[in-house]
Amino acid sequence: MMRRRQKLRYSKCALAVAGTILGAACQVPAPTTAPQPAAIGPRLVPAPASLVTAAGAPFRILRTTSVFVDTTSAEVRSIGEMLASLIRRPTSFPVAVAPIGVPSIGAIILRLAPDRTALGEEGYELNVTSDSVRLVANRPAGLFRGIQTIRQLLPADIESDMGLDRVDWPIPALRIVDQPRFAWRGAMLDVARHFFTVREVEQYIDILALYKMNVLHLHLSDDQGWRIVINSRPKLTAMGSLTQVGGGPGGFYTQQDYQDIVRYAQARYITIVPEIDMPGHINAGLAGYPELACSTRPPGLYSGTDVGWSTLCVDKEETYAFVDDVVREISAMTPGPWFHMGGDEVQTLTVEQYVRFVERVQVIVNKYGKKMIGWEEITKARLNPTTLAHQWKSDSATAALAYGSKLILSPAPKAYLDMKYTASTELGLHWAGYVEVRDSYDWDPAAYMKGVTERDIVGVEAPMWSETLRNISAVEYLAMPRLPAIAEVGWTPQTARSWESFRVRLVTHEPRWRYLGINYYRSPQLPW
Ligand code: ACM
Repeated sequence: MMRRRQKLRYSKCALAVAGTILGAACQVPAPTTAPQPAAIGPRLVPAPASLVTAAGAPFRILRTTSVFVDTTSAEVRSIGEMLASLIRRPTSFPVAVAPIGVPSIGAIILRLAPDRTALGEEGYELNVTSDSVRLVANRPAGLFRGIQTIRQLLPADIESDMGLDRVDWPIPALRIVDQPRFAWRGAMLDVARHFFTVREVEQYIDILALYKMNVLHLHLSDDQGWRIVINSRPKLTAMGSLTQVGGGPGGFYTQQDYQDIVRYAQARYITIVPEIDMPGHINAGLAGYPELACSTRPPGLYSGTDVGWSTLCVDKEETYAFVDDVVREISAMTPGPWFHMGGDEVQTLTVEQYVRFVERVQVIVNKYGKKMIGWEEITKARLNPTTLAHQWKSDSATAALAYGSKLILSPAPKAYLDMKYTASTELGLHWAGYVEVRDSYDWDPAAYMKGVTERDIVGVEAPMWSETLRNISAVEYLAMPRLPAIAEVGWTPQTARSWESFRVRLVTHEPRWRYLGINYYRSPQLPW
């Protein structure tokens, strides 16, 4: 499948949303202080696996409320501090973070329970009564996911950066036992077609965190740009980072920048998955190292949107020295276990050449301690069982499963967030069709591909290709509200979710997005 070339125009500040003009450089209107609905069941996204509301009075955060944690764990302390600082901003309450001890009345208590192994890596249990809020998890990641639930249970005003006059900060009485359906709930950001600054990437990470997603896959190289410094190959960024789609200035991350992103994500229990797309989608890399191409004509910088035409010369030994340098340096600064080698849309190699290349890259990736991921085309090669096949066209699952490989599901007609919502929405492409919010929500990964069952799937991922996206506000317009839809597909058991419930819960998040300055599409499918 070829992504067809699109000609699109848009302006940074011209996205008419909710009758207002939102954008990176635009004013975000102050939210109205409409009363919050009393019912809490409907508000959480993703919906928890199990929620029972209690009849009693809510817990109320007061000036005297503290967050109690096991302070011997730096991680737990820092999660407690995140919750406390969220509460401090709009309430102006002091909210101390203190060691768990005697006091438990009127307190928020965050606790790790080593015996609660059934909660897994990210599960948590939350009990709210008028006396206390008690959050328990087996692992710190579970506490972090749990504080997102506490956050969403509080009035939307909790997202305000400024102190508010509001005095009542209730958390409804309830009991939640929750954990994700899939271990992998990812988003991909293409920083190659257009470059996004570290701060912009962090803004995207903030949205992922709110919706309990746990992977950010960064598409760090493509024909139009090489975006990460490789010390042993300085011309990759010196030459290859200088442009982007449409001919703008491009940009790149220093290794320090990359590590800053990794750390920001880590603090939110989000794993960064770096992708260097090869052997195709490589023109920007060849701009600095033309000897790695088979052609004798030096490649120039490229700012168009055609795909499939560039390739590394896979029969040259020096190509593998190059791959080794790149994989070694990126692996060394990536704490997560994955390296994504791309591998998609190669049209200028024979199958034999392509297969040899993928198999050699797999050896290199494993040598540096990482497990390989590739777009589903890699299933033409012999894969290790630890390698993940990233489905986007969704027609190669059988081959992957025969190798014992598991699948990441990013079916374009459901999960490609760069598809236009409708023919008349402004940004995005439409080679895979128009993808409205309901399309992104209403599918079951375990029923999507013939012969693929729940246990063949590590999870779902929502890619955001950036051919038409010049800033993070444009990214947000396409992500919101489809990203929360994919987040719920990945988190909530199939039996616990429905479109009718989702659409009602989702719109209650709009005031949060406004406080957070997040751009969004006002889909006519939703009851705003
Ligand atoms: C892709 O969309 N070429 C993975």
